Amino acid sequence: MPVVAIPPGIEGIVGITELPDAAWVDRWERIILPAEQKERLLNHLLFSLRHRGRVSAVGLPVHGLVILAGPPGTGKTTLAHGLADQAARILGDPSLLFVDIDPHAFPSQMLGESQRSVARLFERTIPDLAQRGRPIVVLLDEVEALAVSRNGASLETNPVDVHRATDAVLAGIDRVSWAWPNVTFVATTNRRAGVDPAFLSRADLVEEIGPPDAAAILAILRDTLGEVAPGAAADTSGLTALAGDLAAADTDARQVRKLVLRALCSRRELVLEPARLGVADLAAAVRAGLAEG
Ligand SMILES: Nc1ncnc2c1ncn2[C@@H]1O[C@H](COP(=O)(O)OP(=O)(O)OP(=O)(O)O)[C@@H](O)[C@H]1O
Ligand SMILES: [Mg+2]
Repeated sequence: MPVVAIPPGIEGIVGITELPDAAWVDRWERIILPAEQKERLLNHLLFSLRHRGRVSAVGLPVHGLVILAGPPGTGKTTLAHGLADQAARILGDPSLLFVDIDPHAFPSQMLGESQRSVARLFERTIPDLAQRGRPIVVLLDEVEALAVSRNGASLETNPVDVHRATDAVLAGIDRVSWAWPNVTFVATTNRRAGVDPAFLSRADLVEEIGPPDAAAILAILRDTLGEVAPGAAADTSGLTALAGDLAAADTDARQVRKLVLRALCSRRELVLEPARLGVADLAAAVRAGLAEG
């Protein structure tokens, strides 16, 4: 497993993974979104990783920041992983380092402390990794916790330290962008309004990831059923009708996959023999879910 050890004394990093990794291919291929959207995202990441160091920051300003914004359960975090893995495959040697930052590690009760630890992340930790000379993708998952909007309402309710941490994030992104062209940030948020506008404005691309439409839900249902009940995956007319109902109810992609699990676990014989799962079981699980709701 190509997981790189986190240097001692480093805070705020969840993990460092060397890519490509065969186990991450699903995180690209099985996230169902419009093909042109995936292509656009991958192209931005590749351009940034490959060319940012060669173009003038004034002539063609590339900040090295891509943001995935959208409601919960639409695949943002998974896709961020998949994007980095695909980029690593296309770029080839040397392998890419994927650095997963925990934005919740920084807010602190001690005044000035979160600002200092955010500054350390951008001034020391990321540069220490970047100087190895390999392409690096840094994931800022749920970035609304790190780059908290400094608007009026937030200024009234949040301690001043939270906003100083936002200042440190902005300064840090600028510094890394200028000094380390081999580093590109991918950020996700399901609360775009909570992210500081100056952070959003630095992005080379803010891609809105929407809930799945009926066709995407059908593809996700088929893909999920392929894991356990390929027979049900072949029931096109039943699944198409179900996908239409789920789309009308604004079901997110994560819930579509979990529906299959709920249906499986609704009866012991299905748990023991998942291949017996049928579309009628899925429809019953939807009805049960709607009744609960
Ligand atoms: N577009 C999609 N296509 C297929 N599966 C999806 C999609 N979106 C989500 N899923 C399923 O839901 C799981 C969770 O998705 P993920 O955690 O990436 O969503 P998210 O957008 O980051 O949600 P949150 O905003 O709550 O963090 C995925 O691993 C996958 O199984
Ligand atoms: Mg997420």
